[in-house]
Amino acid sequence: MNAKYPLIFSFVLLLTTSSYAQKFEDLARTPPMGWNSWNKFGCNVSEKLIKEMADAMVETGMLKAGYNYIVIDDCWQVARDSLGNILPDPERFPSGMKALANYIHAKGLKFGIYSCAGSLTCQGRPGSRGYQFQDARTYAAWGVDYLKYDWCSDEGQNPKAAYKTMSDALKGCKRPIVFSICEWGDGKPWEWGNGIGHLWRTTADIRDCYQCTFDWGGLGVVDIIDKQAELQKFAGPGHWNDPDMLEVGNGGMTEDEYKTHFSMWSMLAAPLMAGNDLRKMDKSTKEILTNSDVIAVNQDSLGQQATKFMDMGEYEIWAKPLSNKEVAVCFMNRTNQVWKLDYSWQKQTMYFATEVNVHKKVYTVYDLWEHKTIGKTKEKLVKEVPAHGVVMVRLSQIKPAQ
Ligand code: GLA
Repeated sequence: MNAKYPLIFSFVLLLTTSSYAQKFEDLARTPPMGWNSWNKFGCNVSEKLIKEMADAMVETGMLKAGYNYIVIDDCWQVARDSLGNILPDPERFPSGMKALANYIHAKGLKFGIYSCAGSLTCQGRPGSRGYQFQDARTYAAWGVDYLKYDWCSDEGQNPKAAYKTMSDALKGCKRPIVFSICEWGDGKPWEWGNGIGHLWRTTADIRDCYQCTFDWGGLGVVDIIDKQAELQKFAGPGHWNDPDMLEVGNGGMTEDEYKTHFSMWSMLAAPLMAGNDLRKMDKSTKEILTNSDVIAVNQDSLGQQATKFMDMGEYEIWAKPLSNKEVAVCFMNRTNQVWKLDYSWQKQTMYFATEVNVHKKVYTVYDLWEHKTIGKTKEKLVKEVPAHGVVMVRLSQIKPAQ
């Protein structure tokens, strides 16, 4: 056989697969996972810090667990040159962004950056208003794979139009770039974000606390969760509600509270962007962030966000339908006392999901934090849910004997 045909065939295959991979709607079929500088480091970013974080991402097993975006948040940019090109801080990023992107890519990671739809970012750096297409081309030339786009000094713009302009700019630059809409939920981005971006913030900024509110709008974990309960129908493969980045490991919550934070973000099919110092993770932080059983729920290909299945005031039960006719169930205890759970799967009258029926079929109950099967749905689930904690399980049908 003439050897040139297989060659041509592989070339055509490569072309088809690479153009497929570049389709905007296919860039975040499961919630994006990565690390972002803001929650821990604020404006204190530099190429040294980002490189160390990229190293740590690989060395700690975070990359293996699925975290692949390294995102520099606000404060990397200082000015524009006479042609309007955006300039990184030359003291903090002396090698420039392309070199940094190359470093990150060489580790098997992806590179993310931050800008703002207004003239100034939230920290008063140059924003992208009036420069959207030029900035998108610059990012593409640097090798950027992810853009978080903020909403400070919006100057009265219409949010949908402003985000669409940058979305068009990114789509036009011929490099697949995930677009993270950071509009804080004020203009209901869940109603217009699908097709414009891949994820949209639903609330004000997260604070490193279980329950706390701030005058300027910062929110703790529980208040953020409450705001997600009605948004389930807007999430799906390629377009996600974003309840903000993770605080796990930043020191403001107990271990059980961080488990709640991570479990519920996974139940909500939220983007999992770690926000801690990856170079100095204690055992518990690492175990939480790399819990593969919980991450599998977050990354499930069905892409459904959990619904609050039962609300008993301070006790809640959330359910997330999974592929393979399985379901993840999270018992969440908002009180500061232990919840002595004595739960009969048989007594519940509703179905968790159309495909899951605990009355007609028997399921195993697998504990996603203990990493073991703890019973079956025909038995009661007797367990202690810690104060501010969760019990998170996965139900899988036991196949009837042939
Ligand atoms: C806003 C965003 C944050 C962060 C800061 C940076 O507050 O919501 O996530 O990006 O700006 O200034």
